[in-house]
Amino acid sequence: MKEKIITIDGPAASGKEKISKYISRKWKFKHLDSGILYRRLALIFFNENIDVNNLSKIKKKIREIKYLSYRKNQKLRTQEISKLSSKIAVHIFIRNFVNKLQYDFVKKNKNNQGFVIDGRDIGSVVFKNADLKLYIDVKAEIRAKRRYKQLIDSGEKSIYPKILKEIKLRDNKDKLRKNSPLVIPKDAFIINNNSSFSDTIKQIKPLLNNL
Ligand code: CDP
Repeated sequence: MKEKIITIDGPAASGKEKISKYISRKWKFKHLDSGILYRRLALIFFNENIDVNNLSKIKKKIREIKYLSYRKNQKLRTQEISKLSSKIAVHIFIRNFVNKLQYDFVKKNKNNQGFVIDGRDIGSVVFKNADLKLYIDVKAEIRAKRRYKQLIDSGEKSIYPKILKEIKLRDNKDKLRKNSPLVIPKDAFIINNNSSFSDTIKQIKPLLNNL
């Protein structure tokens, strides 16, 4: 039987990770967070003081990278790295690099039941033939409140109006870029994640049970 692919797209801090983890646990699908790969690259450029405006320098660095870890850590989730990741994500050579890692991940884990993969362009570009596509919709103010709490809980200093502003800037960058902008894939189900998680689960469960 061919493994199932579920894609989860949506703007910054829309709850893609929590929803993906829930699906992964409940339906035994392997989870891949594509945002982590963009964040990993951003962290490499940041740590090595590589000017991301210098395209030849970042292209050279990309050619040198042989491996990126899928593992998460707090250093990847700072506001600085969030901003930097969406800045580098506009480039086609960065996107091709990350997409190849995603295809390799699926190939390497072939004997799995299926995959739940989240990001911005997963249903629209990376896995166009997915079995189920979800698009997570949440108001910017609610997303900012949730991200603010997450940052405070993890010990980062954070100011709500600044988070809201940065989330809106990142939304614009992700939606307006030429390469693989954030869109609602045409065959996606829109999931309203504005209220409680149990409310969100009620929308998702029947879709997964029907797969
Ligand atoms: O967790 P959050 O929604 O804040 O962001 P993320 O999913 O970790 O992604 C960080 C940044 O990477 C996004 O703002 C996008 O610019 C970029 N990204 C992308 O362009 N395409 C993806 N499939 C995933 C992330």
